[in-house]
Amino acid sequence: MTVRVHNFCAGPCTLPLEVLEEAEKEFVDYQGAGMSLIEMSHRGKHYDAVHKETTDLALDVYGAPDDFAVLFIQGGATLQFAMVPMNLLKPGRRAAYVNSGSWAKGAITDAKPYGDIYIAWDGADCNYTRMPRSEEIELSDNTRYLHITSNETIGGIRFPQWPEVSVPLVADMSSDYMSRSIPWERFDIVYGGVQKNLGPSGMAMVFIRKSILEETNRDIGRYLRFDVHNDKESLFNTPPVFTIYIVGKVLKWMKRKGGLSVIEGEAAEKAGLLYRVIDESDEYYRCPVDPVCRSHMNVVFRLPSEDLEAKFLSEAAAANFVNLKGHRSVGGCRASIYNAMPKGSVAALAEFMDSFRGSN
Ligand SMILES: Cc1ncc(COP(=O)(O)O)c(C=O)c1O
Repeated sequence: MTVRVHNFCAGPCTLPLEVLEEAEKEFVDYQGAGMSLIEMSHRGKHYDAVHKETTDLALDVYGAPDDFAVLFIQGGATLQFAMVPMNLLKPGRRAAYVNSGSWAKGAITDAKPYGDIYIAWDGADCNYTRMPRSEEIELSDNTRYLHITSNETIGGIRFPQWPEVSVPLVADMSSDYMSRSIPWERFDIVYGGVQKNLGPSGMAMVFIRKSILEETNRDIGRYLRFDVHNDKESLFNTPPVFTIYIVGKVLKWMKRKGGLSVIEGEAAEKAGLLYRVIDESDEYYRCPVDPVCRSHMNVVFRLPSEDLEAKFLSEAAAANFVNLKGHRSVGGCRASIYNAMPKGSVAALAEFMDSFRGSN
């Protein structure tokens, strides 16, 4: 029998077991075609059905309004760091960025070559332990958009409330993608790598307000243009067929579970199990994050010493709780508990943490 560990990896990460098993069954001979889906033309009837279904499901499951399109673009979230300003910024317009930590810094660095970028709120002053409230975000004239990172995967912080500001929002939602509902009217673009909540790595899913496609820049390479991807319905070149196929299956799994609101409720419950252990540990476990901004996807915590952290990680791994080491830039521990992480695995980890504290 296959043994599955409790995998708390920050991404790529745990996917729904039933999706993996379905894909395994279909892998060698896709629907009687005598070949695998990854061996056939992306212009043929089998893949065409997969592509359309995943597109429709993405819009449906996320509750995107009619004036949004969804695009599948290779290069992960990182390519979007550059593509967004390349497409949206024009001479005389500026872009505002919330600097909330490691991933926001990536977006800022990659936007700088393409226009006038400024920091509208800087989390450096609080060591990136919280997100700004709307009234703390300082916008200047001629700002085209405000870029936010909805959840900082490394720092373990999230926006508890979506910012309400006078300009459209653009958000990197990679690490809490489709785990919570969003006020679409505030956004022009929502993007994220799919390798946490939705499927294999290497692709971004980009929700874009269709009306802004009339004004996006045209003087860039074709693959970099949002309007080209939209006109070609994400089939401008050979798409990552396997990734799109798995994302479609994960979206169907989300629907079967009851959709976004059920997923959102479960995420709060699962995160609550771990934060409770931390809060009731008499400061044995410490979460460095402002409690209001604690992530529901990436729970970061420290133990009393680095030696105890090493012991914790090693005993946890021996008990099948793997990938709990914090990011190398910050140390400590991190449990990533994305949509497909079973509640039972989180409850088991909470129990393990309690018992480790008892004996150490
Ligand atoms: C919040 C956030 N943004 C961007 C990225 C980069 O994503 P990708 O590897 O798909 O480029 C990550 C990856 O972990 C992330 O967590």
